[in-house]
Amino acid sequence: MSETGKQQDGETRKQRGGGSEKTGHGRAMVWAASLHPIRGFGSLSLGVPPVRPAPVSLPRFPISRCLAAALPPVPSTVFLRALQIGPVRLSTNLLLAPIAGYCDLAFRMVCREWGGVGLACTDLLSPQGLLRGTATSLDLAKTNASDRPVGMQLYGGDPEVMAQGARWAVEHGAAVVDINMGCPVDKVTKKDGGSKLLTDLPRAAAIVERVTRELEKCALDGAEWSRRLDGTAPPPTGGPVPLTCKIRLCWHTADYESGRACSPDLARALADAGVRAVTVHGRTTQDKFAGSVRLGGIARVVEAAGGRIPVIGNGDVRAPKDAERMLRATGCDGVMIGRGALAAPWLFRQTWDHLNGRPAIEPTEAEKLATIRRFFDLMRTQRDDRYAMYQINRRISWFARSMQRPLVNGKLESVRPFKEAVRTARTANEVYSALDRFAAGELRGGVEAGA
Ligand SMILES: Cc1cc2nc3c(=O)[nH]c(=O)nc-3n(C[C@H](O)[C@H](O)[C@H](O)COP(=O)(O)O)c2cc1C
Repeated sequence: MSETGKQQDGETRKQRGGGSEKTGHGRAMVWAASLHPIRGFGSLSLGVPPVRPAPVSLPRFPISRCLAAALPPVPSTVFLRALQIGPVRLSTNLLLAPIAGYCDLAFRMVCREWGGVGLACTDLLSPQGLLRGTATSLDLAKTNASDRPVGMQLYGGDPEVMAQGARWAVEHGAAVVDINMGCPVDKVTKKDGGSKLLTDLPRAAAIVERVTRELEKCALDGAEWSRRLDGTAPPPTGGPVPLTCKIRLCWHTADYESGRACSPDLARALADAGVRAVTVHGRTTQDKFAGSVRLGGIARVVEAAGGRIPVIGNGDVRAPKDAERMLRATGCDGVMIGRGALAAPWLFRQTWDHLNGRPAIEPTEAEKLATIRRFFDLMRTQRDDRYAMYQINRRISWFARSMQRPLVNGKLESVRPFKEAVRTARTANEVYSALDRFAAGELRGGVEAGA
C-alpha cells in the first residue's frame, strides 16, 4: 500500500482515534481518496533555501519574523484588487479552501498566524447535523476569536434546511455563509447537494433565494460585525451576512470541451438570486482532481459575472507564481488555495508578499518545525492527545514535503525517518522528541524516492 494509502487506512484511523468521527471524517475519507500529493510538490521551488545548519532547539511560537510584522498595505497593481464580499472587506484577496478533514480550526489558525489569509472557511457542514447538534458537526463548525473572518460552508439540496443551516451559521459566528456546489462525492451528490446543483440550476437558484431571505432576517448590527471581522477595514454598520457559492466548471467534461459549461450561466443566475461572490474550482465534476486546473473555464465565469460579483479562482495553486498566473490569466478577483497550504501554511504570506512585489521568503527549517509543533499543540488543546496524534500522523507527509533539503546532486534528501518517527510515536512527548531530533540534524538521510 502506498504511503498515503496507509495513512488513510480505516484501521489505522481507528487506532489513532479517528474511529468515532463517523459523519465528518467518513466524508473526509471519501474526499481523501482523491487527496493526492500535488505533482511537483516534491521539488517545490519557492526559492528552496541553501542547506542551513540545523538549530539545536526549536523556537517556541510565535514565529518571530513573520508574526511580528503587520501586513503592509496593498499597492495598486493590476491584479491586486481589494476583495469585498458584500459588506465584508477582506485584508487580502487570498482565501483558504475548505478541505474536509483538514481545514479545521487548528489548521486555519496556523495559516492565519503566518499572515496573508483574507478569509478561511470551515469544511463542508451538514445543516441537519448542525441543527441536531451532533458532536461531529459542532466540532467541524468550531471557531474562536482568532479565526476571523470565518466562512461556514453548508451542503445540501433542500432550500428550507439550507436556510435554517445558514441561520445557525450566523448565530454561531459566520462572517460569510458558503454553499457547496462542487463536491463530487456520491454521498453528497445523491442527496442533491454539492456538484449535483451544477446540473439543476433552478434548484441552485431556489436555495440561494431562500438562504438569502433567511440571512436578511438575521442581519447583524455594527458591534457584532466588528467582532466578526479582523479589524483591518472598517466594519459594516449593519446588515446581513453575505452568501457565496463554491462551484466547479460543470459536471461533464465533454460539456466543457464543447463550450457548453454551465458555470457562466450559473454564476449569472446565482448573482441574480443574491449571491455576493462565487468561487470556481477550475475542474469539472468528472475531472474530480485529475489533470490541471482549466484557467480558461475560470476566465469565462469572470467574464459572465461582468464585475457584478467578485469571482475567486481555485485549483492547483502551490506557489506564489501560480496565484499570479491565475489572477493574470483569468482576471479573477481573488485566489483560493487548498492543498498547497497543507504543505505550506505560510503560502498565503508568501503569495501576498509576491503579489505586492516583495520577495516571498521561504521560512527557515526551525520555523517550519515550529509550525508543526503549533498545529499539534492546538490540536491537543482543542481536542485531546488521541485526536492530535491521529491528525499529526495523517498530516506529517504534507508538512514534511517542504522540509526536504536539496543535495549537491540536485536530488532531495529523504525525510522519511522523520515522518516515520512522528507516525510511530505513541505519546505526545515522542512527537515532540521527533521534532527536536530532526531540528538537531537527526532523522534524515538518503535520497527521497522519486526525486
Ligand atoms: C480531501 C479534499 C477534501 C475537500 N473538501 C472540500 C470541502 O469540504 N468543501 C469544498 O468546497 N471543497 C472541498 N475540496 C475541494 C477544495 O476546496 C479545492 O477546491 C480543490 O482541492 C482544488 O484546490 P487546490 O488545488 O488548491 O487544492 C476538497 C478537496 C480535497 C482534496
